[in-house]
Amino acid sequence: NQTIRIAPSLLSADFARLGAEVTAVIEAGADLIHFDVMDNHYVPNLTMGPMVCQAIKPYCRRGDQPVPIDVHLMVKPVDALIPLFAQAGASIISFHPEASEHVDRTLQLIRSLGVKAGLVLNPATPLHWLGHTLEQLDLVLLMSVNPGFGGQTFIDHVLPKIEAVRRRIEATGRDIWLEVDGGVNAANVRRVTEAGADTLVAGSAVFGAGDYHRAIAALRDGAGA
Ligand code: DX5
Ligand code: ZN
Repeated sequence: NQTIRIAPSLLSADFARLGAEVTAVIEAGADLIHFDVMDNHYVPNLTMGPMVCQAIKPYCRRGDQPVPIDVHLMVKPVDALIPLFAQAGASIISFHPEASEHVDRTLQLIRSLGVKAGLVLNPATPLHWLGHTLEQLDLVLLMSVNPGFGGQTFIDHVLPKIEAVRRRIEATGRDIWLEVDGGVNAANVRRVTEAGADTLVAGSAVFGAGDYHRAIAALRDGAGA
């Protein structure tokens, strides 16, 4: 009865075969394609930019249905990249509020380009950032690892934080997605969805598996969806 969306993270895909990897996870049941952007400044790693987003865009479809690209910006500053990702076909753009000089301006910029807007909170980032932003958000992305690398261990103390954000979302009466990113796997996914998440990022749990279809099905089963 609960809607659960699975968002495989390309961070753990074979970068030499990205188009084929996107096609494979979509055929295997992915609902979104999670696209991690790292800048070697906000986080100590470097990944992909708008040109790569544009290059995978034609692969982000199931039949004639587009599969949204969920861009997670781990960059500082944020604003200059937003029009480039909008142009490159991003459906959702999320950013870390402490990486933006003017959070409200960044949110307005994303929305003005017709893209859905998300705020990302690290494990130690307080929920007070939602105080004057929640009404403008389409998505809250809670990190369950510290950003920068795939394959890290899920941080359990994020679970009560997921519950708290779910309560705040319910209080708005709006359909704001609650996405959790980092260390999600078939063994812990039930706790994550029971806490209130509806959108699950999974990098190594999908791309580290031999059979993407089985890996995504195991996440969906585990989630109780
Ligand atoms: C971490 C990234 C995540 C990462 C998740 O900084 O934001 O999206 O790819 O990978 P796993 O699922 O392996 O923790
Ligand atoms: Zn991510």
